[in-house]
This record gives sequence, C-alpha cells and structure tokens, in this order.
Amino acid sequence: MSHTDDTHGYQTGFGNEFATEAVAGVLPTGQNSPQRVGKGLYAEQLSGSAFTAPRHRNLRSWLYRIRPAAQHSPFDEMAHATWHNRFDEAPATPNQLRWDPLPMPAAPTDFLDGLYTMGGNGGPAEQAGVGIHQYLANRSMQGRYLYDADGELLIVPQQGRLRIRTELGVVDVEPMEIAVVPRGVRFLVELPDGEARGYVAENFGAPMHLPDLGPIGANGLAHPRDFLTPRAAYEDLEGDFTLVAKFQGTLWQARIGHSPLDVVGWHGNYAPYKYDLRRFNTIGSIAVDHPDPSIFTVLTSASDTPGVANMDFVIFPPRWLVAEHTFRPPYFHRNVASEFMGLIHGAYDAKAGGFVPGGSSLHNCMSGHGPDAASFEKASHADVTKPDHITGTMAFMFETRKVIRPSRQALASTALQGNYYECWRDLKKHFDPAG
Ligand SMILES: [Fe+2]
Repeated sequence: MSHTDDTHGYQTGFGNEFATEAVAGVLPTGQNSPQRVGKGLYAEQLSGSAFTAPRHRNLRSWLYRIRPAAQHSPFDEMAHATWHNRFDEAPATPNQLRWDPLPMPAAPTDFLDGLYTMGGNGGPAEQAGVGIHQYLANRSMQGRYLYDADGELLIVPQQGRLRIRTELGVVDVEPMEIAVVPRGVRFLVELPDGEARGYVAENFGAPMHLPDLGPIGANGLAHPRDFLTPRAAYEDLEGDFTLVAKFQGTLWQARIGHSPLDVVGWHGNYAPYKYDLRRFNTIGSIAVDHPDPSIFTVLTSASDTPGVANMDFVIFPPRWLVAEHTFRPPYFHRNVASEFMGLIHGAYDAKAGGFVPGGSSLHNCMSGHGPDAASFEKASHADVTKPDHITGTMAFMFETRKVIRPSRQALASTALQGNYYECWRDLKKHFDPAG
C-alpha cells in the first residue's frame, strides 16, 4: 500500500475550477482525456449537473485514477434499518415536535450504520426534496466505502471529529464546522475521537450553492474564500472490501478488490468541501425589528421556482442584538416553509430549556411556534437600550419548501418529547382594551 499524506491542506474558494495532484505530472495539459494518462492512470469524468446546465451551475470534475469506478462486482440489496427514505410510513403531522438527543449506540456502529432518518420530503426519484438524518457512531468505517447516488450530503457534526476520506481528498471536520460530500463521491468516515454524533441533510435537489446577496452587496454571510476543498490524496490498496451505494432510497453493496479512493489527481469544480461556521459574517438589524432568518443562510439548494429554495441551511451563531424597542428573540411566526432545527452548541435564545445540544425540533408548514413562555416574559421586559451579546451558541435549521414528514421511527422514539407544546401553555393573556 502506498498513499499520500493526509494532512497536506486544502484549496480555497467555493466551486472554483480546482486542480490538484498527489503525484506530480498526472494532470494532462491542454486536454481532459489523452490517449494515455501519465503514470498509467485512467481518466474519468464525474458529472454533478446536466451536461448542458448553465455555465455558472455546471458541475463536473475529471479524475485521474488507478482503476476506473466501473470495476467492482454486482450490487446486491442490503438489509438496513435506520437510514432510508421512507417518509410515507407515518402521517405528516402539524404538531410541533421536539426531540432530546438520540442515545449513543452500545454496539459497534460506524457512520453508515449509525445514520438514522428523522424525516424528509420528496425523494431521489424526483430529484427534489431533502432527507433529514442524524448519525450516532462509535467506530470508524473499516473495509467499506460509501457513495450516495440519491443526493449530496451536508454533514453537521455536533459531537466528535470526523475524518472523511473521499475520492478527491481528505476532509477533517469538527463540531462548528460542516462538510459537504457531493452526490456520487465515494468516501468513508473515520472517528478520531471514538464517538461522533451529528446531523445530515441529504439534498435530493439541486446542489447547494452560496445565496445571492442582493442589496447586502459583494461581501457578507459566508465568504467564498472560507470554503475549503481537499487536495488530491489516494490509497493504492488491494483487498476484499465492500462498496455501498445509496440508490433510490435503498442501500446496495458490492465487493470491490481495491480501495476506490484511488484518485491520484483531479481537476474541476465538483468536489467535497468544508466550512467553519464560526467564520460566518452574521448580519442583522442595527435599528428596530429583525430580518427574517434567511439573513442567516449559509447555503441554499434552488428549486425550479426562483426565490423558493428546495432547502436552505441556516445558522444562528453568536451575535450582538442591538435593535431598540424591539422584541429581540426570534418572533412568533408561522411559515409556509417547514423548519427542522438542531443545536450544535450552547443554548438557543428563543427557548429557556428543553432544546439541548444534539436535540432537534420540527415545525411544519403553518404550525405556530416561537419563543417559549419564559423567554417571552424575559425578553418583553429586557432593557433594550443596551446591546445583548449572545455568545457560546450555534443552532441551525434545515428549511424546506415542502412539508417535512417525520419518519415512523422518529415519532416512535423515546427521545420525542411528549410535552413540547406545554412550553407555550403559560403564555399569559395580557390584552386589556382599556389599557
Ligand atoms: Fe421558525
């Protein structure tokens, strides 16, 4: 076996035309598929968009690899229990839902076995919608590799670091960072800390990109130069391995006699990336009121309707609240879109308790929600002539245009809080027409 150093850094920028080689001279010059590639490699194109997608949304990379991706035994369906795209087994509920953190498994469980579907909408057949999952794992993937033909994976670690070894290089992430593995890219996940927990959005729709900034201007929110894409790194490794494909909601496995992480050099704009959420340039009101949470969008997956996202990834980072004579926490609201939230770290400013790191909540289309009674009373009487500094927190939201249908297992989970609705029960009637 030979392989490249894991830790030789990243290329910066979002969706750039990257070029990287782990062995000098393997990238062809002036063409993509020469008659013979340098060092005896095969050339292979990985397309992440339609061939004819507009140039600014056209995604593809050229991989120069030891063996082409076609070389493996036939796939057989795998029995699997927890990671699936079954959003039709339970009624879509208008109830507000909230879960405690799911328990860590007792048995050895890798990232793949530890994926647990919370809910979702749409599906890979229509190439729209999102699967929403959590992962709970306590050992590295060993001898098996995964790719997801159904969607790109937005991985949000909450506890424990991940070393994501992909065909196109190694992505190391820790809580407060995110990683995106594009549709189809083969990878495995190692756990440097032994245990890991987090959230995954499996985006069946258009690949995520940075939101347009409109009147904000050229700078703000997530800056392109803070996105990091790995440099080429490869394994030249033979053995009896398993290649797992997530395909149309089902897991399939095939025997493969070599590591598929054998790309020695590649160029293109379709590649994994990571981003540190702590670098987000958070923007908000400096007068009164506050903008809609779209101001906190990190990444967005467009739908076929302009301005209506298939999915937004939104964060609630540390920030100053300075708006005067304003109710400062998130306001009460109902939303045509549906909102799945998770908490990476700290506390969320609209809830006094019950929403803890590793937990999650779901507020579906037009379901009323907002600050709990304690948070409302506190914020209603706060001194808003002075700024608040919200620190030590990082919540996020997967917001989708379609209703998020919770999975049957998520509704049956003992982590589901039966009394979540009570957090609004004690909101007092203050109305006084004579007041
Ligand atoms: Fe909301």
